[in-house]
Formats: sequence, structure tokens, C-alpha cells
Amino acid sequence: MTSTQSVVMNPSVSTHSLRLRVPGDKSISHRAVMLGALATNSSTFYGFLESQDCLNTLHIFSNLGVHSQLKNGVLCIDGVGLKGLMAPHHQLDCGNSGTGIRLITGVLAAQSFDSIISGDASIQTRPMKRIIDPLSRMGARVSGVATATDMVPPLVIHGGATIRGIDYEMGIASAQVKSSILLAGLYANGVVRVTEPRETRDHTERLIRGFGGAIEWGDQLVTLNPSQLLNPHPDRPIQIPGDFSSAAFFLAYGAVVRPIELVMVGMNPTRTRFLDVLNAMGARIECSDYSGDDMEPYATIRISPSELNNIEVPPEWVPNLIDEIPILAILALFARGELVVRQASELRVKESDRIQSIAQLIQKMGGQIETMPDGLKVTGGSSILEFEANSNGDHRIAMAGIMGGLMGHVRCMMHGVSCISTSFPTFFECISEIGASIEWLDI
Ligand code: S3P
Repeated sequence: MTSTQSVVMNPSVSTHSLRLRVPGDKSISHRAVMLGALATNSSTFYGFLESQDCLNTLHIFSNLGVHSQLKNGVLCIDGVGLKGLMAPHHQLDCGNSGTGIRLITGVLAAQSFDSIISGDASIQTRPMKRIIDPLSRMGARVSGVATATDMVPPLVIHGGATIRGIDYEMGIASAQVKSSILLAGLYANGVVRVTEPRETRDHTERLIRGFGGAIEWGDQLVTLNPSQLLNPHPDRPIQIPGDFSSAAFFLAYGAVVRPIELVMVGMNPTRTRFLDVLNAMGARIECSDYSGDDMEPYATIRISPSELNNIEVPPEWVPNLIDEIPILAILALFARGELVVRQASELRVKESDRIQSIAQLIQKMGGQIETMPDGLKVTGGSSILEFEANSNGDHRIAMAGIMGGLMGHVRCMMHGVSCISTSFPTFFECISEIGASIEWLDI
């Protein structure tokens, strides 16, 4: 994406404790639109994330003939049933969202009409063979633009395919791939079984089950039975909790600078590995006020500064920590010893090559980092310098950089921050609550 805006941040001098609420979960908000659209009746979601990525997904389903209303984070969506989508008049645009394109392709693969889906410049470099292969084995006809090693968008989807069941062993731990298969699997004439090499986020499974679908999962195996009918409870709105991945930026701040309380944060256990890492590093964390039904739990998290020690992250934790690795790498600068993250080569194919983007950022901050093909090592303890860095168009790098400046009490200039709106549209409001001063630059 073109992410042009620049910002200068001056850290806060305030020491009083803070209470913040981060906006709704991005992964769940995408799925709310998709499964809400395919349901037989209407559904209501509170706390929908009005970020660019999720609004693009909503727009795509409006192009597919689905009516919805969105006001102050309340999304009411009139489901059209599995067979009720209409052919779009234009190419569909998912913007910067890998979740959007991979999951929606699963839905489009099972329709009677043809479609084309693409996104911004970053999306047009992202690997799609990972979904094209299983969807093709299910009978779908999806193709992309061939590169030396993969297939990239635009994706062309031919309608009218008969979707079959599948027994699929995923080569990579990816919730996007799993969910793409499950969404196509709603249309399958046989059982869909997906085995994951490591457990990944289970929001799709929870929502299908919440809508009455015949789905079971556990021990890295998901089984979806044929003849799905998605039937949301008409009088039971669904609460989308705050996005744990957005909360992570402020948890890191609270672990280093001053006590912070984050309310209504999503506590789905497939998302909260960062809390285990923080605990292992010696952070002072307390969780309370657990709420939410079995759809998506949430809680209040309190964290206060303590002495932190870096750890070697167990590789099996990586898939449930993947989006938090940029801020974890920054946090490592403020802890003793060495943070080691391995078996995280997926970071290379996110919104940017995150291993490289993190390394560039940390070097600009005066920190020590070593990269490996599948991970990184960060040495804590060196003092942070005033710095100027670029997000490489990646929202999590932009936010990690800004938090790094605030945590290190240094002035920083971050270029390319407009991409933050893809996941955390109120980020700068939260930053103002911290008391940091923000100067916008027009360059
Ligand atoms: C997501 C899954 C993860 C994650 C992304 C959101 C999802 O991607 O990094 O931000 O909503 O399913 P992968 O499935 O590619 O690991």
C-alpha cells in the first residue's frame, strides 16, 4: 500500500497509570462479515473493527449483493444464505488484507459465477499457492499470476465448480489457509478434514459453531460435516472483543514504562501466547473480569513494569504469537539477555518481510539484532537513540517503531504511518491518552 504519512513523536513524561480500550478484533471482524453474509438470516455484531481492511471486506460483500448497516461499531448484516451471493460487476479489491483475499477466495471458489479478486501492491506479491492447491483439490478453479516460486494475485476464480470434501494436511501453520478451506468446505458434498502442523487461531471454527454449523476441532484437526446451514440466533448479538494483537503494543509499553490496564481484550487461547512470553520474561500481569460466552472470551489485563529477561521462544508458540513478534522484538531491547525467535519464516511473507523490517527498525534505534532465514536474535540492554525509520508500508512495523520510541523515552520520526489504519484506526488516540505529543509532517 502507499503509506505516506510521517509523524514525530515525543515521549510522555507522565507516570500515572492508564486505562485503555483497544478496538475490535480484526480477524473476527473479517469473519463476522463473511459468515454473517452466508447465514440464512440476519446477525448483529458489537465492536466491529472499522479499519480499512475490514471495511474492504464489507465492501466486497456489498458488491456481492449483501446488505448491511454499520454504525458506531455495530454491524447488522442481512445474510443471503450460502447460495444467495450475486455476481460482482467489478474486480474485487481487498486492499492490504491477506486475511481478506485468502478467506474470500474460499467463498468465491464455491459460487456459480466467475470473479476476480486482488488488492494493493503488497497483496500482489503475497503467496497464494497455499490456498490455490487445496481449493483446487476440492474441485475449485482458481488461478493467479505465476512467479518463480509461487502464485500471486490477481486471482481469477471460475464459478460453477462442484466442491468436494477433502482430507488435507497443511504444510504451514496458517489460520488463513485453514479458514479458506473451511469456507469453501461449507459448500462441499463431503466431509472436510484439515490437519494443522501447529495449532492456529480458531475464530472461523468458533463462528461456524456459534451459527449452528456441524464442526469439531481439537488436537490440530478440524472436521466440518457437509450440508451446513448457518443460522445465527436472531436475538443474540455477538460481542467482538478488543484485538489482542493491538493490545500487545500497549502491554509492551506497560511492561517497561508505567502500569496500564486494558479492558475487554480478546482472550481466545489461540491468540494469547504473547502473555506466556511476557510471563516467562518476568512481567507483572493480572487478568480479571473474564467475560464473553464460548464464542469469543475477553478480559481485563493489567500490567506493570518489572525487570525483564529475554527468552528463547519455543517454536511451537510461534504461530499463536506471529503478529506480536514485531513488538516483542522491540520489547527485547529493554530486557536483559537475548531474545531468540526461530521457525518463524512466515514473517518473511507478511505485509512486509517482517524479519528485514524489524532488523532495519532496530538498527535505526541503535539496538543489536541478528537475522536468520527463519527468525531473529535481539540483544537487550543497549540504550535507545533518537531515530528516524520507515514502516515499509507495514502497520505492525509502524506501531512497533512508535512504541519503541515511547518505551525508550526518545524522540522518533516514523515515515509511512498511514497503513496503521488497516488494523488500528484509533492508535493515535490511544497514544494521546498516554500523553505523548504527536507532530504530523507533510513530506
Ligand atoms: C490471520 C492469520 C495469520 C495472521 C493474520 C491474521 C487470520 O496469518 O498473521 O494477521 O485472521 O486468519 P496466517 O494464517 O498467514 O499465519
